[in-house]
Amino acid sequence: MSTLAKDTASVSTLDVERIRRDFPVLQERIRGKELVYLDNAATTQKPLTVIYALQHYYATENANIHRGVHLLSQQATFAYERARGRVGQFLNAAEPSEVVFVRGATEGINLVAHSYGRSVVEAGDEIIVSQMEHHSNIVPWQVLCEEKGAVLRVAPINEDGELLLDEYEKLLSERTKIVAISHASNALGTINPVGQIADMAHAQGAVVLVDGAQGVPHMPVDVRAIDCDFYVFSGHKLFAPTGSGALYGKKHLLEQMPPWETGGGMIQRVSFEQGTTYADVPVRFEAGTPHIAGGIGLAAAIDYVNSVGRAAIAQYEDELLRYATEVIGEIDGVRIIGTAREKVGVVSFVMDSAHPHDIGTILDAEGIAVRAGHHCTQPLMQFYGVPATVRASLAFYNTHAEMDALAAGIRKVQEVFN
Ligand code: ALA
Repeated sequence: MSTLAKDTASVSTLDVERIRRDFPVLQERIRGKELVYLDNAATTQKPLTVIYALQHYYATENANIHRGVHLLSQQATFAYERARGRVGQFLNAAEPSEVVFVRGATEGINLVAHSYGRSVVEAGDEIIVSQMEHHSNIVPWQVLCEEKGAVLRVAPINEDGELLLDEYEKLLSERTKIVAISHASNALGTINPVGQIADMAHAQGAVVLVDGAQGVPHMPVDVRAIDCDFYVFSGHKLFAPTGSGALYGKKHLLEQMPPWETGGGMIQRVSFEQGTTYADVPVRFEAGTPHIAGGIGLAAAIDYVNSVGRAAIAQYEDELLRYATEVIGEIDGVRIIGTAREKVGVVSFVMDSAHPHDIGTILDAEGIAVRAGHHCTQPLMQFYGVPATVRASLAFYNTHAEMDALAAGIRKVQEVFN
């Protein structure tokens, strides 16, 4: 296959072969075959700069932060707060204090649901999510609605997996307190028009949380241009360590929010007689010793992504997705689920002849890593009437040759089951 030729011809700004050398795992052999890693929506691989950042931190700077007068602690604090600044710049937040470090998108959503949601939502109020949400952007809102006697409304999608904006608009009313929407669907790849969704919600006085877990790895994100009130993402889907991530919140909202988790680090003063007062944002939301190395690794990942170029990444992945859709879509008996006009690099599919788990197992024998299952989107699977799909999810280090390998693997599945 003329892979390299195709890769370099289609996007001259991205040197994929050089990029691949930055990711040690991509050089591994799996079951005796070259690894074809297409499970990037589940987690991405880590470049050497991130691995070295962790090593450097633990080897030379390890200390607890915000607590020590000693030099090592000051250095660790500096590195961690510098990382916060990096995340803020990456999202175009107005200031670093709008960035709360969290374990990942899931924790960020739970924080907003428990803190902002609990203090604002009352009986009879409404929260809107969409049919394509990940469970992590459904269940926290369901729990909140149950607790408060509020109502969870679901904005519908069409067969292509696109949000029906006019139907969403009909759901909005003065009862709507929160709209929670994914920037891009992890199971379909659909990119939602989050700016427009936010404008429509704001017109009714609702706040908007964007789940950016599948947004930031694939495209430039500007929270002020979107004008969302909250934006969450997971570091491990952005080439950073697991257990790292960020919640962006508009400062005036964060400031009015009560603490969620409590304990050390998030207080101003604790007294048995006079009670406790809390630290300013964002530290108010960071009880206990945080994942210091994770934050530093996240900044290293952001630096890496910026060095590749976010616009170049989006352009390259768009072309790769187009190619993948073509070579997979032309195979008899394959049905691609999720055919929105605007997508990130996700190809979900089912086959007439085989169950997704069997397909995943056969592909694994070929060294191809995909996810087979419901992708934590059971309501979406119910909409499509399937229990599960096979999902190939792309990153900028994937190649056209890997898409050919995937297509060849799918043809092998056909041979086995026909
Ligand atoms: N949310 C991750 C995925 O889509 C785990 O696979």
